[in-house]
Amino acid sequence: MVIYDSSKRVFKLDTDNTSYVMGVTEEGYLGNIYYGKRVDTTDLVYAMRIGEHPFTPSVIPGEKISFMDKFPMEYSFDGTGDFHANCINIRNSAGQEGLELTVESHNIYAEKRKLDGMPSARGEGTMSLDIVLSDKILGAQVILTYTVYEECDIITRSVKVANTSDSAFYITKALSACLNLETEVSDILSLHGAWARERHIQRSKINYGSYITESSRGEPGHQDSPFIALLSENCNNEAGDVYAMNLVYSGNFTARVQKDHFGKVRASIGINPERFCWKLGSGDAFETPEVILQYTCKGINGMTRNFHDFFRKYIIPSKWVDAEKPVLINNWEATYFDFDDEKLVQIAEEASRLGIEMLVMDDGWFGHRDSDNSSLGDWYVNEKKLKGGLKKLVDRVNSLGMKFGIWFEPEMISPDSDLYREHPDWILALDGREPGLCRTQYVLDLSRHEVVDYVYGMIYKVLKSANIEYVKWDMNRPIAEAASLPLPADRQGEVTHRHVLAVYELQERLTRDFPEILLENCSGGGARFDAGMLYYSPQIWCSDNADPVERLMIQEGTHLVYPLSTTGTHVADSPNHANGRITPFNTRADVALTGTFGYELDITRIAKEEREMIPAQIEKYKKYRHLIQTGDYYRIASFRENGRYDSYMVVSKDKDKAVLVYVQVVTDSNVLTKKLKLYGLCPGKKYVVDGTEYLGSTLMNVGYIMKPLRGDCQSVVVEINCVC
Ligand code: GLA
Repeated sequence: MVIYDSSKRVFKLDTDNTSYVMGVTEEGYLGNIYYGKRVDTTDLVYAMRIGEHPFTPSVIPGEKISFMDKFPMEYSFDGTGDFHANCINIRNSAGQEGLELTVESHNIYAEKRKLDGMPSARGEGTMSLDIVLSDKILGAQVILTYTVYEECDIITRSVKVANTSDSAFYITKALSACLNLETEVSDILSLHGAWARERHIQRSKINYGSYITESSRGEPGHQDSPFIALLSENCNNEAGDVYAMNLVYSGNFTARVQKDHFGKVRASIGINPERFCWKLGSGDAFETPEVILQYTCKGINGMTRNFHDFFRKYIIPSKWVDAEKPVLINNWEATYFDFDDEKLVQIAEEASRLGIEMLVMDDGWFGHRDSDNSSLGDWYVNEKKLKGGLKKLVDRVNSLGMKFGIWFEPEMISPDSDLYREHPDWILALDGREPGLCRTQYVLDLSRHEVVDYVYGMIYKVLKSANIEYVKWDMNRPIAEAASLPLPADRQGEVTHRHVLAVYELQERLTRDFPEILLENCSGGGARFDAGMLYYSPQIWCSDNADPVERLMIQEGTHLVYPLSTTGTHVADSPNHANGRITPFNTRADVALTGTFGYELDITRIAKEEREMIPAQIEKYKKYRHLIQTGDYYRIASFRENGRYDSYMVVSKDKDKAVLVYVQVVTDSNVLTKKLKLYGLCPGKKYVVDGTEYLGSTLMNVGYIMKPLRGDCQSVVVEINCVC
């Protein structure tokens, strides 16, 4: 629900359990009043505290700057006295920076507007609010849009900047949102990592000064994630206040938490302003990415469940949310570049016998690519490897009763490629400097329409040429030297954002032209795992590291925000190719269970006993697939925290079924059984676990007794069924 109380000039956005409240001062400044548990009144202006020193400029004009430095500005602007981390700055044609925004008008409406050229949450059944702010001197209009998703306790926000003046100006910073809080929060939760170690959870204290998690790599990167949450003191999995922000964006972002000299906390998130500058011509508009905002008093698990429900209902393409996606086998870690059609068919034959449903042909099928040194951009089949062409191979795989998927890396170009020899100017590069290579490749200049069209044309042709039912879209290097040859000097600061917009355009075209194709995003593993990508692809390859122990931590962090169904998980080789760890085949499958589930190893070469375990593993996955895709996820224990074991469970929405995963990473001799307190069950219902009947409240309060397993890296999956 969205309310505007005109007598008090108060806006109130209500979800089922939360309220978000803003007020307008005498001068027209828009301030944040409250965000938290639902309140059923608009009598809240007192909490904006404009009646305290330093008073608003209409009361004490002589202290305007002091006021600006204290006021909890809803969308804070730079250069006119608010010295905190701000959301927006604009440079005028005279080179001066700074603006002052006051409320001009507002509009409450039912049909959510789609963002222009960018992913945003679908808006069925929602109410939205636009608050139009303006700076009359600059001729700038800044429209703050809020949409309320009542049942998920989520509000989305985005900002549109319009130039209503006669001349161009430059947006040097335009974040998507800020949040003004005080003593209610004391900790920060964020996600950090590296290649093969993505999205580990980090919790830290909010101290005076700033905490920043951000990327300038042209994608979120392996290192940081466009998510941040602020927690109350002692907030744990089940209880405590959480304020979280997740940016629907796949490029450079910044998320910052700043505690000031008054002890006030401001958190902000949006496109990273570093090296960003957008020229806005007269009459033009610029939109920021959308941010997904939530408050819950139900602890970290509560935040996770709200995000999961929201992503499943409003972000992931609806067609795929409940779809039973095929169990796949990917040849990357099985063969790397060393394969031909016969090898792939051999794998497919064995796979189909074992119940695997799709073969994905990874990198190396095009140009003359036998290593990562060549051919990106030459998206035509290497007939030396695939004799008789792609269609022949796909038909052979299809005749085994299997689907076929293919890998692309559309944003890239190898120096050793026909495309580069023909168009050496199609890359991002700084004038006069030798462009830097990474994985021996350059980044295509996707700010040029002809490049976008050309790349799409090539992909289109391949996808039309055979019965391809899945695409893995990869991006294997960050963007450096973000400069474009044809763009004018005062638009070079737009290049990285234009790249992201082009990726969105390409994926929009692909999913529109091939609605039946299942798209999986990937970036050197999980360097671009974000809500923007999930808008186009229902799943993302989570990490190049499929070692089940490392995966416990990667998946814990990923599932903190993103639904289990979105996580690309495969059973891979042992010793693991990324870290050399040796683990049992069974544990590798149990850890892959809470994701998309597939195989990525040469099943024609592994031990016969392991091969013969595959049908039962697939059966187990299929048994729990629906529950895992649609249920509520609860974290029980974290190996990252305790250094010994990990446990989590998924409970069906009707609370009649649950599945518990337990992984004992390190075995301890002569220890007692472990008491695992379960979550999310119905206290009064009876459940059967391992043949014994328990009350839900017993399992949740007293706990389930887990027997010690013998050996390191052992796992069990426990089924919990209601007998009501
Ligand atoms: C990236 C991906 C891998 C594989 C290789 C191919 O690293 O994450 O899964 O596709 O590229 O080059």
